[in-house]
Amino acid sequence: MDELFPRFSWRIESSLQNVKQSAYEINVDGMWQSGIVKSGENIHIQYGGKPLLPFTRYDYSIRIWDCDGNESEWSRAFFETGIQVPENFSADWITTSEGNTQVCPVFRKSFKCELPVKSARIYATALGVYEIELNGKRVGDYWLTPGFTSYNENLQYQTYDVTDMLRRENTIEVTLAKGWCRGRLGWRGGVNVFDALPGILLMLRIEMPDGKIQLVPSDTSWKYNESAFLKSEIYDGETYDARKKIEESMNFDFDDSTWQNAILLDYPKKHINSQINEPVKIMHEIKPVSIVKTPKGETVIDFGQNMVGWVAFKVCGKPGDRVCLSHAEILDKDGNFYTDNLRTAENKVEYILSGKGEEFYHPHFTFQGFRYVRIDEYPGEIKLDNFFGKVIYSSLKSTGSFECSNDDVNKLYQNILWGQRGNYVDIPTDCPQRDERLGWTGDAQVFIKTAAMNMNVALFFTKWLKDLAIDQKKLGGAVAGIVPGITKTRISAGWGDAATICPFEIYHAYADKRLLARQYDSMKQWVEYIKAQGDNPYHWEGGYHYGDWLGLDSPPGSNKGSTDDNYIADAYYAHSTSLVSRAAALLGHQRESAEYSHLNKGIVNRFKKTYLDKDGVPNQKTQTACALALFFNLTDNKKAVADALAEMIIKTGNHLTTGFIGTPYLLHALSDNGYEELAYTLFLRTEYPSWLFSVKQGATTIWEHWDGIRSDGTLWSETMNSFNHYAYGAVADWMYTKIAGINYSTDEPGYKKIFIKPILTKHLSYVFASVDSMYGRIESGWKSEGDSVVFNVMIPPNTSATLVYPDGTIEEFGSGKYIFTWNAGNTLG
Ligand code: BGC
Repeated sequence: MDELFPRFSWRIESSLQNVKQSAYEINVDGMWQSGIVKSGENIHIQYGGKPLLPFTRYDYSIRIWDCDGNESEWSRAFFETGIQVPENFSADWITTSEGNTQVCPVFRKSFKCELPVKSARIYATALGVYEIELNGKRVGDYWLTPGFTSYNENLQYQTYDVTDMLRRENTIEVTLAKGWCRGRLGWRGGVNVFDALPGILLMLRIEMPDGKIQLVPSDTSWKYNESAFLKSEIYDGETYDARKKIEESMNFDFDDSTWQNAILLDYPKKHINSQINEPVKIMHEIKPVSIVKTPKGETVIDFGQNMVGWVAFKVCGKPGDRVCLSHAEILDKDGNFYTDNLRTAENKVEYILSGKGEEFYHPHFTFQGFRYVRIDEYPGEIKLDNFFGKVIYSSLKSTGSFECSNDDVNKLYQNILWGQRGNYVDIPTDCPQRDERLGWTGDAQVFIKTAAMNMNVALFFTKWLKDLAIDQKKLGGAVAGIVPGITKTRISAGWGDAATICPFEIYHAYADKRLLARQYDSMKQWVEYIKAQGDNPYHWEGGYHYGDWLGLDSPPGSNKGSTDDNYIADAYYAHSTSLVSRAAALLGHQRESAEYSHLNKGIVNRFKKTYLDKDGVPNQKTQTACALALFFNLTDNKKAVADALAEMIIKTGNHLTTGFIGTPYLLHALSDNGYEELAYTLFLRTEYPSWLFSVKQGATTIWEHWDGIRSDGTLWSETMNSFNHYAYGAVADWMYTKIAGINYSTDEPGYKKIFIKPILTKHLSYVFASVDSMYGRIESGWKSEGDSVVFNVMIPPNTSATLVYPDGTIEEFGSGKYIFTWNAGNTLG
């Protein structure tokens, strides 16, 4: 950790009801004594002691008092600092003499050390993706390190505890692949878009019992050689020749005189900092379900789940025998293996056997998005038992659950979770399989609220938003379609607004004001950029927009729904401006808050005059136009707009036409404005277009298109048809907040104050959901029992809640478990 002012958060455990904290005390041994602080806050308490030193472990204790004066025990824990400032990274960048033509070099160094050691840490990063072995063992359980950032301005290093791995005679090896940094990236044929050379930077820091420090830094005394990885690319997969693996190179006295000398890489260290977000790890292992012989005669393994990660396998054979695997998301309508939708991404894995007994392998520096795997070559009989799926993603804590009486809805929820898993591999991506897998800002923005209920994404977004702000500086305040920016993408409404929407969502879900403060300038710059487009400050003038991307009301041949670009742009401009004004007020910038509020009023007034008729209803007769006006509060006549929206939907036989922009808000727009039943009708619909259509078609993730696979088995398109695109999965936000009714308060964020406000329906007999907040677990369930509805609610210590019954009456309560019964009469029909 390089944070100079770490924050402390703790959870209070108690089986009592109405527990509230009245005071706390924090002691960081030898550094800080907070004293007894009379405060009800138990999250984000900022360190206030002496300056923290680098490379140091700090033990600390916390105790609290409740409102009845009961005192807790001291709880003990520790944190450890990292390099803190780049100058403390006492090592040299090293590279090879072949430059980026070098495929996957392995760097090597032998060294001695005295035993026992008190502690030993490796700090490492790279241009590419790296893996470290120490004395023949892999170091750590992180994968695809150092992850994906705006490398030339922000490069994260990782820290590994190797205290127990050291011997008197040691060998360390680092294998380096191209990864996102130097490999192929983007659908426009980009290669090495960051213009980097292969490079590693590593420092092993050993602390002896007497406090003496031994450093083993990367420098020109290291040697390098080709590794057994013949090829590795994020999109294309990996080729590994096990015959080329030199096992003996891990021996201390291995003769590496034929290896080449590493050379110094002239690359800065000033932008290196410790990893903020949770590392990518193997999070689940799944077993395949069947072997399929396709009509074309292909042998295909079905993993039963569209997943992201690797196929791991066991194999025996002769030296030079091969295992060749191709990956796909679906079989086509005839049941044959289908890869056209992967576009130029090869997604192939080849393993060449050493022939030494049973061999085991999975890729290391790439990942695939797949459900089906075609076995193109495999020595011997293909048995399911020899294949496993390793699911990888950022190791985020799971925080949500949802279950109800409708199995299709439960499957949809699971599909949404799988969508998040597959697309949260270090950055929020659009899809994990074709030649994109990029940080599309619009997709990230529409899904973030759902994401923050499913998993704890606070650090994940803290890291990604840092890159957003960095890239923005290079674009004069604009936010491009993709972060980290890899290619010239368009600056579009609904995409760039990730700059304002994402920090606010993290603030609401986790009460993280510091992130809001750190992103405030970026939020402002985004709005200022929009304002500067043209002469009228109340209008976002010109530019190309992605519009209501993939809306079903698109004109033929277009991906853009028919809602006017200007309408969408000005709606988002108004929304982002209101968020900046609110952020300013929360951060104490009252003058700026007033300025942005004034700007917002101007935009909204113009919006109403330009785009609404005399009744306050959008001139544009699209579902998305109405949903935006309602959700962003852009009309004075919500009733008329909701009526117009409902009429449009009903007239077309409950056929939604919204795309990326309208869909996340559609059900909210209806159910917040008197059309609860219609919202449920759309949500529970199983015919195309609907959320449950793909479930009925056998989907195990969320599709990019409502009709990715049509009822007759034909496909939406060959070139842009992802079966793992989470955007429409944003509906889980409606499921948690409206069906189960779990809501944070925007005034007391982080679920300090909770509103339980479910929308009951006769279509479901029970619902149960939970969200694990910073304070602890929140549960909300309801069940129809004859004329009554029974609510089961739990809220964590140090929070309070209001339960709102369907007739508007309320129940107020503090922490604990509760059962409330409400007489529904015949209101549920
Ligand atoms: C991506 C989308 C993205 C879009 C921009 C597509 O290729 O997959 O999800 O938001 O481009 O419109």
